[in-house]
Amino acid sequence: MYVSMKEMLWHAHENNYAVMAINCVNMEQAKAIIQAAAEEHSAVIINISPRQMKAHGHPDILAPMIKNMAEKVQVPVAFNLDHGGDYEDIAYAIQCGFSSVMIDSSSYEFEENVRRTSIVATLAHAKGLSCEAELGHVGLANQQDNIKTDLYTNVEQAKEFVDRTHCDCLAVSIGTAHGSYPKGFVPTLDFERLKQLKETLKMPLVLHGGSGAGDENIKKVVACGINKINVCTDLFKYGRQAMADAIADNPNIDYMDVNIVAQEAMKKFIKQYMRLIGSSGRFTFEKTTGPALD
Ligand code: 13P
Repeated sequence: MYVSMKEMLWHAHENNYAVMAINCVNMEQAKAIIQAAAEEHSAVIINISPRQMKAHGHPDILAPMIKNMAEKVQVPVAFNLDHGGDYEDIAYAIQCGFSSVMIDSSSYEFEENVRRTSIVATLAHAKGLSCEAELGHVGLANQQDNIKTDLYTNVEQAKEFVDRTHCDCLAVSIGTAHGSYPKGFVPTLDFERLKQLKETLKMPLVLHGGSGAGDENIKKVVACGINKINVCTDLFKYGRQAMADAIADNPNIDYMDVNIVAQEAMKKFIKQYMRLIGSSGRFTFEKTTGPALD
């Protein structure tokens, strides 16, 4: 099923679990993600950032392919623009057939963030898409942004922000960051702030920077109200490592087989993560219909 993020995230909000949102730039990743979701009976969100779509995963090619794959499975699959910044990128994503967009104006002052987010939410809703926004700022692990508490989401501002923008879900800053942390480092998260945000907003909340955050932290953020967890860095690492190992094992391995090895490794990682965040087994069907995705 090809759907927007709205219903699946409200289902997660009402049933206290989280859905993975996974960055994807090609067919092998899309297959790994959608097959994992189908096998786990889980909803899933496929993300692509403006940088990724310009560098490799052109959305006019990816969107119809993902839609086609999503329609072959019975679980809900959304395709979301991750960290949309420019109106041009957002308009292009909508034109290409994305089912959801994120407007990330978290680097702007509050009023400008409200203004830009309101415009995109109105546009997205008019086209039947869901809209994610960010308040506070989730920065970069290699800049140690995770420990900069002035970047964390302010609870009172968040209420006003959601009331004024009508975004469908809100990305909050509570101590994670994008990219890789130093080896062995596990971030300290502000669970109290997260609980207050959930209690005040009573809506789906999003955690960016899901890679390397630690299993215990991830289980606890879900228990405290996170309903969408973004993962990119770890998945790309798994895929790349599987390729490197396969080539080291057999330098003459066929190009197609290297891709399949990576696809299977990514699928395994995603399935484990889905179990960790409680999305597995939420969508069961008596029988499947239509062509299978294999
Ligand atoms: P990671 O770099 O931790 O995978 O975060 C990805 C992300 O939040 C994309 O929006």
